[in-house]
Amino acid sequence: MHMQTVWITGAQGQMARALYQQTPPGCAVRCFGRQQWDLSQPAKLELPRQNLPQLLIHTAAMTDVDGAEKDPHLAFALNGTATERLAQWCADYGIAMLALSTDYLFDGQATRPYRPDDRVNPLSVYGRSKQVGEQAIQEILGDQAAIIRTAWLYDGGSGRNFLTTMLRLMGQGTTPLRIVEDQWGAPTACDALARVVWALAQQLLDQAHGGGLYHWSCQGQSSWFEFAQTIQQIALEMGLLQHPVELQPISAVQYGAPAPRPAYSVLDSTLLVQRLGTVAQPPPWQQALRAVMQAMPPLK
Ligand SMILES: NC(=O)c1ccc[n+]([C@@H]2O[C@H](COP(=O)([O-])OP(=O)(O)OC[C@H]3O[C@@H](n4cnc5c(N)ncnc54)[C@H](OP(=O)(O)O)[C@@H]3O)[C@@H](O)[C@H]2O)c1
Repeated sequence: MHMQTVWITGAQGQMARALYQQTPPGCAVRCFGRQQWDLSQPAKLELPRQNLPQLLIHTAAMTDVDGAEKDPHLAFALNGTATERLAQWCADYGIAMLALSTDYLFDGQATRPYRPDDRVNPLSVYGRSKQVGEQAIQEILGDQAAIIRTAWLYDGGSGRNFLTTMLRLMGQGTTPLRIVEDQWGAPTACDALARVVWALAQQLLDQAHGGGLYHWSCQGQSSWFEFAQTIQQIALEMGLLQHPVELQPISAVQYGAPAPRPAYSVLDSTLLVQRLGTVAQPPPWQQALRAVMQAMPPLK
């Protein structure tokens, strides 16, 4: 079988790990972390010129939404300029590119799930910096690139995300847990998204097009508060947690995070389902969450 080579940025990140675990047969995958490519200094980035991949999947980003407000320079360097450098490198060497982007490009004023061609209006530095990266990819690579905007990602691993943070605080008996109830999105499991990324990657590798701008998240919608309630309910059922803690719904204003976030950022995955078929049919978010939690080791 002819092996196809795929490189992935963001080696230690939750999406890169999920993608690596699902490496399809016939693909040789190499992951690049900040030790190999430090994307915070794009001008100094030295990218290889030989033994190159057919496809680059770009997951690395400054994903600390509140941190980006405090350090916009770093956010724009990583999410904007470094992404542009990678896109230019892909264009120079005929490498296809698939990049991940975010629901935080939207301002949350919509009353139905956002489609890829809806108007963007990011509220935060993080959102604006990801928008710059998206635009660079589209201008430089056009149809040679695919961008998937996704949302509210989590896995059951050792890193920090909403699921692992909630389980840690619940396990420590932190009470009450104050959780935002007036922001709505779709919690999305990294392993569910990884299946879809690989399906689209295959189209790019087969040069069956696949390029373009897409949305994909798990099905349904939730507030952070409902997400936390569901995590606790499943954890109690599964014996991951022995005792419930009190969950206190609060507003985003009361929570007072440094970065503004959209009040509503549910994404419409239809275009990708049309493109890829049933493999891209999003599972209900509660079902994906249960599957991730069932695979988790017992809490310490
Ligand atoms: N997380 C979400 O809820 C969410 C929602 C929508 C879209 N997205 C997008 O989805 C993609 C994947 O997100 P994720 O949740 O997998 O993110 P993640 O777990 O935070 O991983 C991001 C990766 O970027 C790497 N990185 C940070 N600074 C770097 C630098 N200076 N040089 C090189 N690499 C650097 C990190 O490396 P270290 O491990 O060394 O820090 C990390 O491995 C991102 O493009 C993100 O914008 C995420």
